[in-house]
Amino acid sequence: MANIDRESSTARVAADIETLSGRDYTLTSDAIRRYAYTDVYRRTLDYFQGKLEELGFDVSYDPVGTLVARNRPPGEKVFGIGSHCDSNRNGGPYDGTLGVVAALEIVRLDAEHGTNLPLQLISFLEEEGSGFGQMLLGSRIMVQRVTEDDLREHFRAIDDGRSFWDHAADAGCEPERWQDSARVLDDLTGWIETHIEQARVLQDTGNRLGVVNAIAGYVHADISVDGRADHAGATPMDFRLDPGVVAAACIGELEQLALAAGKGTVGTVGEIDFSPGIINVVPGQARFSLDIRGPDEDAFNGVARDIVSFAQAAAESRGLQAAYELRQTVPATRMDPTIVAALERAAGTAGEPFRTMPSGAAHDTMCVADRVPSAMVFVPCKDGISHAPDELADPADGALAAEVMFNAIRELVG
Ligand code: GLV
Ligand code: MN
Ligand code: MN
Repeated sequence: MANIDRESSTARVAADIETLSGRDYTLTSDAIRRYAYTDVYRRTLDYFQGKLEELGFDVSYDPVGTLVARNRPPGEKVFGIGSHCDSNRNGGPYDGTLGVVAALEIVRLDAEHGTNLPLQLISFLEEEGSGFGQMLLGSRIMVQRVTEDDLREHFRAIDDGRSFWDHAADAGCEPERWQDSARVLDDLTGWIETHIEQARVLQDTGNRLGVVNAIAGYVHADISVDGRADHAGATPMDFRLDPGVVAAACIGELEQLALAAGKGTVGTVGEIDFSPGIINVVPGQARFSLDIRGPDEDAFNGVARDIVSFAQAAAESRGLQAAYELRQTVPATRMDPTIVAALERAAGTAGEPFRTMPSGAAHDTMCVADRVPSAMVFVPCKDGISHAPDELADPADGALAAEVMFNAIRELVG
């Protein structure tokens, strides 16, 4: 195991995070907000590209704009590291970005220690879905978990409604070659992603690292209920076709269904809109999102089925119509036991407290694991806060994650 200067490593990780939290790298001063094809996102990629090129890596992009950097020619085996550097729309400095920074730090440790490990760093496009409402978009494109029709037609920008395809083309990408994105994974012998935990388990158990052994699967979908817009004052209660009432009943039912399913199943309505959305008008249409997840495939899929039946029955009982549209689903994903064991050994050698644990949040690693043996390392974040501007993690823990991954990869690539 390499003898790592933790203080210098921590200072480098802290400097990267501080720079990328600056005004040039976010669309708003109140939060970190950056997503695909914006100038602030481009600048963030340029930052990583510059640092990686200084370290002798070749940097390229897949056909939709995922950054790929490697120190071996195509066709040679490499070990994959990275995460995403887009943010939640109301995000903080660490979700995603810390994982790319930790990967960059591994590249720096590799140079400093003269180990010349075969490495490939990836910074995935649109993990958060902030640009197009589609989580894990870059990694789903890479493992072909989308269709061309999705990219051309269905996936539309939250900001202006134009298609993913048009935005990608305008940014100089080649969406017509999207299937070639699969080649990015061709040479990988393994993959490890660092991420903040996004819950309080590490903090509350006094651990500095988590070694992830499984990731919960999820369903993302929308339910729309059609009724009739009426005057809110003039229309008596028993003359209405109000889809808002159905939406409200569904939110309560989803909570009950998730609780009854148990086994770590969770269900959330995070978006809701009424149209026309005016105080003195009974809504004519309601739309709400479903985010249903869990480590148990049957349990979370059962909740998704049951909430749709409930919505349809609740709508019909009032003479309304409810329609369900799946946005996407990714199955629960087990991590590779060999990589998990190597990480546990490296964490043990580092002499800092760690625990092996599942991830409730989704990560690009779920897609990578489709083709490549994969695992993740978690870093604690203060009070579990994430997807919020006051997200906070300790750069020393980010540096520790880089150290542990560096040593685990050394062992794995022999
Ligand atoms: C990813 O950000 C998720 O919501 O799990
Ligand atoms: Mn993330
Ligand atoms: Mn996130």
